[in-house]
Amino acid sequence: MKRFLTGCLTAITLGLLTFNTQAKEIDMTGKKVLVVYFSRTGEQYSVGNITEGNTAVIAKMIAEQTKAALFEVKLKNDTYPAAYKALTEIALAEKKANARPEIIGDVANFADYDVVFIGTPNWWADLPMAVYTFMEAHDWSGKTVAPFVTHEGSGLSSIPSKIKSATGAEMLDGLAVYGHVAQNDREQAKEDVINWLKN
Ligand SMILES: Cc1cc2nc3c(=O)[nH]c(=O)nc-3n(C[C@H](O)[C@H](O)[C@H](O)COP(=O)(O)O)c2cc1C
Repeated sequence: MKRFLTGCLTAITLGLLTFNTQAKEIDMTGKKVLVVYFSRTGEQYSVGNITEGNTAVIAKMIAEQTKAALFEVKLKNDTYPAAYKALTEIALAEKKANARPEIIGDVANFADYDVVFIGTPNWWADLPMAVYTFMEAHDWSGKTVAPFVTHEGSGLSSIPSKIKSATGAEMLDGLAVYGHVAQNDREQAKEDVINWLKN
């Protein structure tokens, strides 16, 4: 009887351990996963001067959990100011002009990916125009896109439907994380990411 109870306890413990492992690393077996993101350093709303952007923090968490490749969308000619207010004015002018700033580099073998996470800060309830440059340069047929957004109050806005319009891809539910949580409360941010990935 004692041996039986010990056996049961061992089995339960092993089961719990397996569950915990699964909670740490999300299973994307058989899928090729890519995380594409845009993010800024410098002065940012609510967090001051940062050396790693809020969206970059979340992008790296997702890549770690899903063992995905990472690609950062960067401007070819990056003249954006580090000062927050000045950047908001330029971003608004680019949004009004529906600009398509040139970007550097590209994802190697983009066609091979099944699932693409697209991460962006919420800029005036929209994506930075450079992310449209990236999206419009690729063929999204057969791909599934999971959007994630960092923001300071507006949440996802209609960013997922803008991504859907630009890519035509099948869309999964989006994740919205406050920028200051991504930056200053990594434990909370990681929990949000893991819970979202599980769903
Ligand atoms: C140009 C610009 C426009 C922004 N517009 C909004 C907005 O409309 N709504 C909102 O909640 N946050 C807005 N924010 C705040 C950012 O979405 C937020 O700080 C985000 O986490 C920044 O991400 P990053 O550090 O990855 O660039 C804006 C920030 C900038 C720089």
